[in-house]
Amino acid sequence: MLINIFNLHHHTEFWPDADDFKPERFVHNEKRGLSFMPFGAGERICIGNVFASIEGQLLLTMISQ
Ligand code: HEM
Repeated sequence: MLINIFNLHHHTEFWPDADDFKPERFVHNEKRGLSFMPFGAGERICIGNVFASIEGQLLLTMISQ
């Protein structure tokens, strides 16, 4: 079974302004359940999950410097 992650991340019930750039929506790390799953979920979740998240923050920091 495939889950359409793009459609999931544009579901208006969870993400009313999905196309707007609003990084602040991630400031409060409230429980999002499976409404946000860029790395998949379950047994086959991306194994680069933590690495990619740290690398992303590092990249943003280096660019802003
Ligand atoms: C922003 C970066 C990344 C995103 C958005 C991403 C996203 C994903 C997604 C959606 C899957 C499929 C999960 C599923 O089938 O349910 C996946 C699988 C996988 N990812 Fe990533 N990934 C990223 C970076 C990485 C990195 C850096 C690595 C390795 C260092 C990696 C290694 C893998 C592997 C090996 C799988 C297959 C896992 C399996 O089937 O058991 N990914 N990734």
